[in-house]
Amino acid sequence: MFEPIQRVPGDAILGLIQEFKQDDNPNKVDLGVGVYRDENGVTPIMRAVKQAEKQLISDEKTKAYIGSHGDPDYGSYVLKTVFGANSKVLKDNRASATQSPGGTGALRLAADFIASQLSGKSIWLSDPTWPNHLGVFEAAGVDIQRYPYVDENNRLDFAGMLDALKQIPTGDIVLLHACCHNPTGFDLNHEQWQTVLDVVQERDLLPLVDFAYQGFGDGLDEDAYGVRLLADQLDEMIVTQSCSKNFGIYRERTGCFIAIARNTEEMEDVRSQLAITARENYSNPPAHGSAIVATIFNSEELTAQWHEELDEMRNRINQLRQDFVAGLKPHGLDEQFAHVAEQRGMFSYTGLTKDQVDALRDKHSIYMVGSGRANVAGLSSKNLEYVCKAIADVVK
Ligand code: LMR
Repeated sequence: MFEPIQRVPGDAILGLIQEFKQDDNPNKVDLGVGVYRDENGVTPIMRAVKQAEKQLISDEKTKAYIGSHGDPDYGSYVLKTVFGANSKVLKDNRASATQSPGGTGALRLAADFIASQLSGKSIWLSDPTWPNHLGVFEAAGVDIQRYPYVDENNRLDFAGMLDALKQIPTGDIVLLHACCHNPTGFDLNHEQWQTVLDVVQERDLLPLVDFAYQGFGDGLDEDAYGVRLLADQLDEMIVTQSCSKNFGIYRERTGCFIAIARNTEEMEDVRSQLAITARENYSNPPAHGSAIVATIFNSEELTAQWHEELDEMRNRINQLRQDFVAGLKPHGLDEQFAHVAEQRGMFSYTGLTKDQVDALRDKHSIYMVGSGRANVAGLSSKNLEYVCKAIADVVK
C-alpha cells in the first residue's frame, strides 16, 4: 500500500532548524525560523512565564478537558488584549474567542470554518505571505488568490495592493497581517489601514486579520491599531491570534480564533460551529499555555513583569535593525539595506536573492529563508560584524 507514496521536501522554514544543527562551523548564525533570541542566541523562557508555571504546579487542581472553546478566562483576556478593554465590540458582546493550538491552529479553524460555512468564497493572501498560510488554506480546500504586497525594489507596494483589493469579488475573504508582516516586516501606516477599511466596506469583504506578533512592532496597543480600527467599523471579521511570540511559549501551542458578528445571536451561531470544528480537529485545545497566560493576567505583578520583558524583546530587535544598517556602512551597503531599520517585527525581507542566501549558507554558515527573509532577533553584538562582512561578500 505504501509503495507508491512519494517522499516530499520538508517545510522550508522548519527544515532550517535541522540544517543549522548539523552545521559544525563555530561561527554559524541562525536567522531562520521565527523565534526570539537573546544576545546569547538563546530563546529564553520569560521570567513572568516561569513564575506563572511555578504557581500552576502548586495550584492546578485538575487535568480534565477544558472544552472545545478552551479556558473562558484566557479567551476573555485575549479579547481585551486584542481589542482593548474599552472596545465597543466587547461591550456589545459580539466577539467570540475559541482557544486554539497556536496561531496555526486558529488559522486552521478559520480555514475549516470558511470551507464549511462560507463555501465558494476565495481567500486573498498577500504576495508574499507566510508560506504556511498557503498550506493551511489549501489543506482545508479553500480557493486561494493573491494580492501584491512588495514591489520590484523591495518596498511596500501599497498602490498595487489597493488596486488588487478593489477587484476582489464581493463577499470574498482578505487576509491581512495585523502587524510585523511575515515575511516582509513592512506594515501599513494609519492612513493605509483607513484606506483598506474603505475598500473592505465598499466591496463588502470579510477581513481575516492574522495577529501573531502583538507587541513586537511598536507596542501592544500600537500594533493593534489596524485590528481595532476594523473591529470598530465593521459588522463582521475574523482574527487569528497567537501567544507563541509575545509570551515566548512557542511549543505550548497557545492561540485563539476570534469571530466578530453583527450581534450576540449571530456570534453564538458562529461560535456553535467553531465548537464542532475544534471537536473534529483535536477535540479540546492543550491547556498549559492558556493557564500560563491566564495566570499572568490574573496578577498585576506578573502582568507588569510580562510588559517589561516584552518591551525588552521589542527594543532589542528594533535596536538590532539600526545596528545592522550601521554595520553595513563600512561596506558601502547602508543605503541598499536602509529599509531594514524601517521594517517592524521579527523579520526583515532583506532583498537578498536566493543565490545570495545560498552563498551565505554555503560559504559563511549563515542561515535564512530562501526568500531572503532574515530573523533579525538572530543577530547579536557578537555576530553582527561577521554577518555584515558576509553579506558584503555575497552581494558584491
Ligand atoms: C516563522 O515564520 O518562522 C514562524 O512563524 C514559525 C513557523 O511556524 O513557520
